Amino acid sequence: PAPRPWSQRFEGSLHPAIARFNASIGFDIRLLPYDLAGSLAHVQMLGACGILTPQEAEQIRRGLEQIRQEVEAGTFQPDPDAEDVHYAVEHRLVALVGEVGKKLHTGRSRNDQVATDLRLYLRDQIDRIRTSLWQLRGVLLHLAGQHIETILPGYTHLQRAQPVSLAHHLLAYEEMLWRDWQRLGRVREQVNVCPLGSGALAGTPLPIDRQLTAHLLGFERISANSLDAVSDRDYLVEFHAAASLILVHLSRLSEEMVLWASQEFRFVTLTDACATGSSLMPQKKNPDVPELVRGKAGRVFGHLQALLVTLKGLPLAYNKDLQEDKEGLFDTVDTLGSCLEAMTILLQEGIQFQPQRMAEAVGEDFSNATDVADYLVRRGIPFRTAHDLVGQIVRVCLAEGIVLRDLNLERWKQFHPAFEEDIFAAIDPQQVVAARLSTGGTGFAVVRQALQQAQARHEHP
Ligand code: ARG
Repeated sequence: PAPRPWSQRFEGSLHPAIARFNASIGFDIRLLPYDLAGSLAHVQMLGACGILTPQEAEQIRRGLEQIRQEVEAGTFQPDPDAEDVHYAVEHRLVALVGEVGKKLHTGRSRNDQVATDLRLYLRDQIDRIRTSLWQLRGVLLHLAGQHIETILPGYTHLQRAQPVSLAHHLLAYEEMLWRDWQRLGRVREQVNVCPLGSGALAGTPLPIDRQLTAHLLGFERISANSLDAVSDRDYLVEFHAAASLILVHLSRLSEEMVLWASQEFRFVTLTDACATGSSLMPQKKNPDVPELVRGKAGRVFGHLQALLVTLKGLPLAYNKDLQEDKEGLFDTVDTLGSCLEAMTILLQEGIQFQPQRMAEAVGEDFSNATDVADYLVRRGIPFRTAHDLVGQIVRVCLAEGIVLRDLNLERWKQFHPAFEEDIFAAIDPQQVVAARLSTGGTGFAVVRQALQQAQARHEHP
């Protein structure tokens, strides 16, 4: 029969299937290092406040340190009957140090304990994720530096619109990931609050020092309301939302890599490092990596939704529903970590840009049509009039199966006498991109500046 650690109020034993149903040890064991850190701080505080004698606090501290060493050595075996990680630690502690170990849980509840563990865990994970984001941004910046004057068609509605610098395109993603990096920093501030000392829901009559525990654990401040502190999971929602946005960005980039690797685009080729084959079609080379990143994004959006639904009907304060916050969180952390790593490798060594092919694509379309209109605008013709005229010119070209650069000066002049010899330079794709020097635009000189700014904030965030 499963033991009942809670109290002697029960006579009968718990149904074994219900014990399994109730248990979280199968997944919350991940919180072990953080649970130990929380307990070490708690016991130090209990000693400092005279709630435990210095000897008692020291005995417990040694026991917890020994468990920490067992964890590091990989020899820690959680008690199979322990319901969760908190009991697993307490059971082991009592086994190691005896009766005094039973004093660890003085002035504390698993409710404030688990909230503390989660925040410590997440704070660490956020730091790791931010490092990965920073590395991926570094790869984007490196590639951008190589491709300032590489031009390719820019799209709206997935129709060729105006040519842009490839660096400008890459820097658009760096911009998104920079926002993500900052956003995670703000989420970290919400996470970095200490709920320990809130007790089960109402605080404790013992003379604890919450500031001390918070300080020992590196928390920025302590929570204000005990009822809120044990049932608040806002910081998890914020983290899931921030993770979801990162994956929106990675997924959009992935979609472009899938498109660009297609025979229809050929803007990138896949190297063998990141591509896979078909079990049936011998010629295939598939972009599984960006497809998987795109696909995995959906899981994380699901965890965000699941968490919101779990929280929305909960009365104050702690409810066991909250145990369900963990598996989604762990999966989000793992999924996001693996996607960031895979994306970094993909950009570093999984794809090769094809500038030649991009340039060809730009040459075969009408993405310089706006520049003909702008040419006329500079000669005093109202934009709307110019727009109408260029529309007619494009229609004529389409009918003849030619593009704008195939028209000679005589024909240009037939369309409008304001056209001069310099129209040919004005519609040259390289020139078309170079000319867009408005702030934030794709003109090479502007992109070069934008890259410098992005590099500066990457080096000194
Ligand atoms: N395993 C529990 C959880 O993850 C720990 C808190 C249990 N508290 C309680 N009152 N049953 O939420």
